[in-house]
Amino acid sequence: MFRSVARSAAGKHLLRRGYATDSVPDRKVAVLGAAGGIGQPLALLMKLNPLVSQLALYDIANTPGVAADVSHINTRSEVAGYVGEEQLGQALEGSDVVIIPAGVPRKPGMTRDDLFNINAGIVKGLCAAIAKYCPNALVNMISNPVNSTVPIAAEVFKKAGTYDERKLFGVTTLDVVRAKTFYAGKAKVPVADVNVPVVGGHAGITILPLFSQATPKANLSEEEITALTKRTQDGGTEVVEAKAGKGSATLSMAYAGAIFADACLKGLNGVPDVVECSFVQSTVTELPFFASKVKLGKNGVEEVLGLGPLSDYEKQGLESLKPELKASIEKGIKFANQS
Ligand code: NAD
Ligand code: LMR
Repeated sequence: MFRSVARSAAGKHLLRRGYATDSVPDRKVAVLGAAGGIGQPLALLMKLNPLVSQLALYDIANTPGVAADVSHINTRSEVAGYVGEEQLGQALEGSDVVIIPAGVPRKPGMTRDDLFNINAGIVKGLCAAIAKYCPNALVNMISNPVNSTVPIAAEVFKKAGTYDERKLFGVTTLDVVRAKTFYAGKAKVPVADVNVPVVGGHAGITILPLFSQATPKANLSEEEITALTKRTQDGGTEVVEAKAGKGSATLSMAYAGAIFADACLKGLNGVPDVVECSFVQSTVTELPFFASKVKLGKNGVEEVLGLGPLSDYEKQGLESLKPELKASIEKGIKFANQS
């Protein structure tokens, strides 16, 4: 284990003035896959988060360097790097939030489901360790295919007797981030003011942005809404193609992952009215997991919020996504119960 404590006098001064961390509870966040394309910028962003007191960076290689680097930043959290399976338990112990961006990314021409064969096993192993070392942590699943990796995690936790549906989240925040950006551009409204719920799942047509509920309101044509919907659904592929074999979204994903983890921490700390979209166990539709707006609280999910009124186009999209999402969920459940 590599441990480094960054607490310069200047840092303490800055924190006292800016964030009043003395009154904020201690919170440990672990990032699994911390040396990867998402993991590194996500580690940076979590180091900048004043709600984090301990940051554990775990990967199968290269975490000592990442941890040493990030640990020099003069913010609140103490950073430790852990490398290899024998250090996974130490990385996880005492964690309040575990963020998982471990696994392989897409190359052009691949679907997220094409990642299943490798990532399903990685996620299964990591979740078994979470069940053992920090069964009460909130788990933020980033690894694809999210529509299957979240059900895998649920099954692993059920088998271990630690499953709490309020504590397992598929991170779909990047879909919301994209929908907000694309909508602001088209509607010509300030992006910082925009809100757009995105429901369903996290792959192709299972990503369903609800532009009929977008605010501030704008008079967009049906063609414009269709184009915005398609661009949001294909946002990941747009990046995969632009990176031309060098992976998928990492920087925007790290940003989205940091937003979602921050919301989880705020909920744990009792901040009221924290709402984000996430892929969670759900009764919003007949599917056992579904992404929708979720209210976060001291135990994770406090309330899974409904869909609200949908346009005819969105109703159609909802029905179209169900067979694919159902199949992906079932594939994950079957895999987890195989051995
Ligand atoms: P990457 O290859 O750059 O990094 C992955 C990291 O995971 C590597 O450092 C690797 O060593 C590590 N890893 C592999 N096996 C591990 C294990 N058993 N334990 C711990 N770490 C392990 O990939 P990336 O670009 O960071 O993407 C990671 C995953 O996130 C991919 O599956 C990708 O599809 C997914 N992703 C999801 C979203 C989303 O919106 N949910 C967005 C972008 C990417
Ligand atoms: C994304 O939406 O960017 C991620 O799911 C990565 C991918 O493969 O598209």
